[in-house]
This record gives sequence, structure tokens and C-alpha cells, in this order.
Amino acid sequence: MPDPTQVLRSPAVETGDNPPSQPCVLLIFGASGDLTKRLLVPALYNLACDGLLSDNFAVLGTAMDAWTSEEFRARMTADIQKFHTRNQFDPVVWDKLVARFSYVAGSFTEMATFETLKVEVKRLDAEVGAGGNVLFYCAIAPRFFGTVCDHLAECGFKEGAGWKRIIVEKPFGTDLRSALELNKDVLAQWDESQIYRVDHYLGKETVQNLLAFRFANGMFEPLWNKNYIDNIQFNVSEAVDVEGRGGYYDSSGVLRDMMQNHMFQMLAYLCMEVPGSFEPDAIRNEKAKLLQSVRHFTPEEVAAHTVRGQYGPSGDKPGYRHEKDVAPTSKTETYAAARLYVDNWRWEGVPIYLRSGKALWKRGTEIVVEFKKAPEVIFRGTPITSLNANRLVFHIQPYQGIEIQFQAKVPGPRMQLQPVHMKFGYGEAFKASRYTGYEVMIYSCTYGDATLFSRGDLVEAAWRIAQPILDTWAASPVDFPNYTRSTWGPKAAAEMIAADGRRWFEVVTPDVLQQSPLFKGGDPVFLEQVIMALKPKQVAAGEVLITKGEIGRELYLIEQGEVEVLDEHDVVKRVLNDGDVFGEVGVLMSQPRNATVRARVQTDLYVLDKTDFSRILRDNPDFAKAIRAIAKDRYDLDVHPDALLAPH
Ligand code: BG6
Repeated sequence: MPDPTQVLRSPAVETGDNPPSQPCVLLIFGASGDLTKRLLVPALYNLACDGLLSDNFAVLGTAMDAWTSEEFRARMTADIQKFHTRNQFDPVVWDKLVARFSYVAGSFTEMATFETLKVEVKRLDAEVGAGGNVLFYCAIAPRFFGTVCDHLAECGFKEGAGWKRIIVEKPFGTDLRSALELNKDVLAQWDESQIYRVDHYLGKETVQNLLAFRFANGMFEPLWNKNYIDNIQFNVSEAVDVEGRGGYYDSSGVLRDMMQNHMFQMLAYLCMEVPGSFEPDAIRNEKAKLLQSVRHFTPEEVAAHTVRGQYGPSGDKPGYRHEKDVAPTSKTETYAAARLYVDNWRWEGVPIYLRSGKALWKRGTEIVVEFKKAPEVIFRGTPITSLNANRLVFHIQPYQGIEIQFQAKVPGPRMQLQPVHMKFGYGEAFKASRYTGYEVMIYSCTYGDATLFSRGDLVEAAWRIAQPILDTWAASPVDFPNYTRSTWGPKAAAEMIAADGRRWFEVVTPDVLQQSPLFKGGDPVFLEQVIMALKPKQVAAGEVLITKGEIGRELYLIEQGEVEVLDEHDVVKRVLNDGDVFGEVGVLMSQPRNATVRARVQTDLYVLDKTDFSRILRDNPDFAKAIRAIAKDRYDLDVHPDALLAPH
């Protein structure tokens, strides 16, 4: 039965303003849990602060904990201090909001609880004038979703005036089979139009903006296909480890926890066809179609197109297998990389790379669209030997912005190029306050706008992509751990993309560079020049980076790790680590390398090649001086300043 009162468009469509949410009673299952205090209540508070919460609104919390309504209010009042996201806390708004909170203790499996809830909802509805509208929020383990939906229906919650809608949290199933069953359970009593499956990434402004960017701007759509785009990368790096959630995580892993949901949602937004309108189902149809076009891998293809990883210890921090509630022989992946293909007219043959992991070097979510390179041939006879690809980078978080990378002519008499970029930052363009992402979910659900929620067919399509990977991984042996905490992840992921002649795009910010003494305090133009020229490289323990006697054209900067400099008798002369540079002699002078350099541990580096290096040296005399000082100190080598300026 379709939701009869579903309103697809809010009055804001006509006025351009944001009216308050629709009246309703919000019944939260799992009200004593983490999600409620960390995200749902702060989101309600944000809506209230911005005048976006209806006055005809009440919250009814329920969970097993034997709290009273007073206790619930007191706890939420203490927690909001920790979890609100505003610059300043407004006690007047909060007091008014929390006065509308009540609580009922009980088990989700007992009908008696639902009878009590029904009485309470009725009372609150009459008290605040919610018109019979009820929004059920399942902030509970997925195994209870079906039971809660059944009991709600059996108890008569579907009847009466007003709309009834159910929000369910992720994970929606743990594999294809369980997702199909869950869809069946949830839809046994309720209509698809009443079910709102949350993926909190869709609540992020930067993710929603993918649609605005693609469909409100005419500039890129003609280029948005296999003729102009070389490859697309989705990167979701987390610096945090499993943070005490080992019990949950060990039965999940990153493919289920991040890729199958959050990353596939972003993939769908970025690659879907143009919808006929902005109606929720017009968008959701295109998203589902896109995911249905992603290739399902055979076991051989899984081996060729995916990499999994698990973090090992670093310093006094444990490896994944020694985290609380994790099996000591766990095969669960904390890192995954994949090369997917969308087998449709638009994207045929364009590799779509995805990677995500825990305990990586830094937090950052980016989408990189790399365009096909311009032909280099017209620059023959000039000092230009290679061209970089144009890139469009969507910075989702923590930095929020969009960047376009291209080449510009370096000022001067000769034709020389430098990679440069144009950037749009949310912080500079908008004054909006920081939201949790849940505000828009709750708000749009009260209007029956399902745009930001996953329809059953999309969830199933996403599991159909993930399932063969999960099955093949479960059936094949793995050598874990295979990456060290705080690194860029397993080297095999770098090798997978390198085999295609490409590399992962690492976002380097001036503060990353400034960790190196060589760049500390560098002026912004200099740092930008270096950042745009750096290329990431990963090496395993024992791997040789530079061999004495060979001619080299690269300077290396260690992002993290440790390398040893060896003399001709293999004696360690020096150990270099985070922030150090090496290889300067080879790029300063056209002479053979005068030492061998080998990685002692898994090491992540940036490479600066000679052409870029010379250009930067010419522009930055202080940098040139510092590099010459290093060469003098290490190898007693006097490099004449003119040598730096010599043409290459
Ligand atoms: C959740 C995952 O869905 O998303 C977590 O369960 C992960 O493991 C989190 O840390 C990441 O969300 P965000 O918004 O911090 O990128």
C-alpha cells in the first residue's frame, strides 16, 4: 500500500525558503544507544536552532534500559554538551527541545512494549498536535528490524490519520541473502514508500553537491564519459582504528562497512545517467540502474581486481588481531582496494578504483576524476617532455571543496609548464553551520522526500557487486597483517593500480609538507609548487630505492617510514625517516648515485622528478641553498649554484 499522504515536495519548492519540518512524533528504537546521543539528538538540536523543527513535534525514546523520562532527559542534556556541533550552545533552544522528550523502557520483541508505546504516542500526538504523523527510527541492530516492523503493524500503528514512516539504519543485511530476507521482512507489512534506509554519506553536503555539480552546470556533462575520462578514483581513508568496535567490525570488514554502502552510493551519484527530474524516484531509478551495470566478478577477476589488507602493530599500538574482541587469527579486512568496471555505454572500459581502510596515515575522503591527457607531440622541440592529466577532485571531508588541476605556462621566455589548480572551498563560499548529516535525513523524511534514502533495489544491486568478492575472499588464504598502522595501506594496492600505468592520488596539504624540516616555514607559493609536483610511491621493507652507481633523476621525501643509506660494503652509513629527503645528488648534478638506499620498514614516499625539481629550485633560492647544504653535509659535495640552473 503506498503511503497515501506522501508529499514529494515541500512548500520550499515554491518559496525557496526552508519551512520547518512537518509535525510528527518521532519514536526512536534504541534511544539509549550511541547513535541517538551522538547524532540523532544533536541533529534535532541543530534543526531546532535553525528554526527547522516543527512546533508540533515530540520525541519518544525506547530501549531496554530501565530509564524514566526524567532520566532520559537528564542523560540527553548531559550528552548534548559533548556532542553538539554548534560554535555556541544555546540553552534556551535546548530546554525547549528536551522538554518534548519522553521515554518508555521495554523489549522490542515483546508486544506489551508496543502496546505501551501506542498509548504514549497517542498521548504525545494529542499533546503537541502532530496530526497522527509518526516517524519510527530504528537505531537498533538489523536483526530486530523485521520484528519491530511486524510488531508495529500488528499493534495497529499503521492505522489512523496521518503518515507513518520507518527509518532503518545501516547495515542493511550482512550479505546478499540476508539483505533479500530483510527486504522481504520489512516489506511484509509496510510499503516501500514508507521505508527509509539511511546511508549517512548521503546526508553529507559534499556528497549531495555531486548531483548539483553534475546537473546544475553545463560545463562538464559533455565530457562525462569514456571518451574524455581516463579513470575515476574513490578514496575513503580513516586514521582511526576499530576504536573498541572489534566485536562488530570483525564480522564485517571494510567491504561491508564502507564500500558496499557509502562508497557505492558516491559511485552511483558520480556515474549515473542524467535523471529526468529531481523527483526522488527519478534519481533513485538512475542510481539503481548504475549499480546494476557494475560488473560482477568471477573468482579469477576478484583475484585480479581487488586487494585486501589488515593493519599490523606500530610502536605501542596493537595490530588489528590484538584489538579487543577480535579473533587472534582474524581474516577480516581492514583495508580494501578494487578496480571496478561499469559495463554501460557511458563508462565502458573506464577503470573505477576504490580504496578504503582503517588506521591509515590520515583521514580524507576524495573523488578524483582524471581526464585523458592532451597529446604531448605538439610540444616537441620544447623543454616539455610530458604532460600531466587534468583532474577534477571532489574533496568530501574533512576539507570540503572542489579542485581542478591543469597546466599553466611558467612565466619566462621559454615554454615551460607547471601543474596548477583552481579551488573552491565550502568554508570560503558559505556561512552555513556544521551539521551532522542526520538533520537533512530527518527533515526530508517528514516531507516524504526519499531522495536521500536507499531503495530496496539499490541495496540489493550493491550487495550483488560485493557478494562475489566476499565469497572469493572467504574461500582463499590470506597473509595478514600486510600493512603497518599509519601508512598508506598494503603495497599490493599500489601495485594493482601501477600495473595500469597509474597511481593513487594522495592529497598533500601544506601542513603535511611542513612536517619535513626542509619545507617548514616555506612560503605558500613554494609549498604549492612542490605539492603539485609530488608523486606518491610505496616500498616494502627490504626494497632498494636507489642503487649506487646508477644515474637517477628523482628526489625522495619520506612521508612515513625508515630507509638506510649503505656504502659499497653494505654498511649502514645513515638512517633516514619521516620528513627526510634523499636522492638530492642525482638530481642536483648529472652524476651517478653515490650510495644505495634501502627501505627498513614499509615506507611511503613522495618523488619529485628532476624537471620539476630544477624548476622549483630556480624559483626558490632558499630551497636551493638548503638542498646544497644537505649534499655538503652528507657527501661533502660542493654544488655550485650555477649547476642548479643548468639546463637539463
Ligand atoms: C560508518 C562505519 O558507517 O562510517 C564506520 O561503520 C566509519 O566504521 C564511519 O568510521 C565513517 O563515517 P564518516 O562520516 O566519519 O566518514
